[in-house]
Amino acid sequence: MNNTVKEINTKRLDIISGDYEKCIEEASRILKNQGIVAVPTETVYGLAASAFSDYAIKKVFEAKGRPQDNPLIVHISNMDMLESIAKSIPESARKCAEKFWPGPFTMVLERKPVIAQSVCGGLDTVAVRMPSEKSIRDIIDCSGLPLAAPSANISGAPSPTTFSHVLADLDGKIDAVVCGNTCEVGVESTVVALFGEKPRLLRPGAVTLEQLKEVLPDIEVDKAILSQPEAGKKVASPGMKYKHYAPKTDSFLVEGSSKAFGDFVNKKENCLALCFKEDEEFITAKKMIYGTKNDESTLAKNVFGALRDVDGMGVSAVYIHAPSKSGVGLAVYNRLIRAAAFRVIEL
Ligand code: TXA
Ligand code: MG
Repeated sequence: MNNTVKEINTKRLDIISGDYEKCIEEASRILKNQGIVAVPTETVYGLAASAFSDYAIKKVFEAKGRPQDNPLIVHISNMDMLESIAKSIPESARKCAEKFWPGPFTMVLERKPVIAQSVCGGLDTVAVRMPSEKSIRDIIDCSGLPLAAPSANISGAPSPTTFSHVLADLDGKIDAVVCGNTCEVGVESTVVALFGEKPRLLRPGAVTLEQLKEVLPDIEVDKAILSQPEAGKKVASPGMKYKHYAPKTDSFLVEGSSKAFGDFVNKKENCLALCFKEDEEFITAKKMIYGTKNDESTLAKNVFGALRDVDGMGVSAVYIHAPSKSGVGLAVYNRLIRAAAFRVIEL
């Protein structure tokens, strides 16, 4: 067995067993000097840069290999920052901020010119989120900077929910990583456009459609959430047109009962079943459990780690048992249908 530990070329700022304050100060120093730092949030790890610096933002796009037209989310720690970024703040936005911030919720508003052009991918809107994770909020406060931060993965790969995932993708390409706990939510924030005539859900997350309807009764759900955007057609959220979250292994999403799912995968050769605990007794094929059927929050917390683990299983295909589309299940379904390149098998 090869016991050599892979050399790490990225500065590690350990906020769990190290000096918390010093780590926050160092991350802030690097960001103020236009460096790029991966940071934990309650959703997934983000790759942060000053939202005022085109130079730093360019490095984020390069490190991730991200298409230039896919805009970033700007992270803030207080409402004054929102006022300084957004051109106008409609009543709906104030209500959402009161109800869902700090937390896994992002609103898209018309923007002011202070935000670096490259953050917004050429759009005249900006996506803004106030996270609840203490460490990123402290870094925003300490640096005084709103931080643009996409998920800290190579573009197209599953989003990172641990600092090890970040290092697996970006070691040597970023200035530092703040090493915190595993992300509590596990899928990225809910994104809602609040600048047009009607509010529109662009990406589902842990703030659920059911919760949004209580504040935004006329909210529309963008079609691209569960279906493949037509080739060449303009999409409301540029991130939705790209293949995403995919393991290298050929992936399929499968709908059906535990018994039907088991019968289906057992007939396949050299495959992996990514499944619920309830499916276990029906499956003789190789399997990996990502939670129990009715606990969508746990499925959300585990889904990206599971997708990352698939490639190490030595199989030629993975069949993923589809979760329900209710609550945060809609967010898990949305990520999985992309990981499967919209190939859904209905049993
Ligand atoms: O939970 C999250 O939101 C995480 C953490 C790090 O905060 N961030 C995240 O960023 O998921 P990213 O870049 O992976 O996803 C941002 C999404 C993309 O789908 C992008 O197209 C959309 O937000 N977006 C950003 N700005 C937008 C805008 N002005 N209009 C429409 N969509 C926008
Ligand atoms: Mg992402």
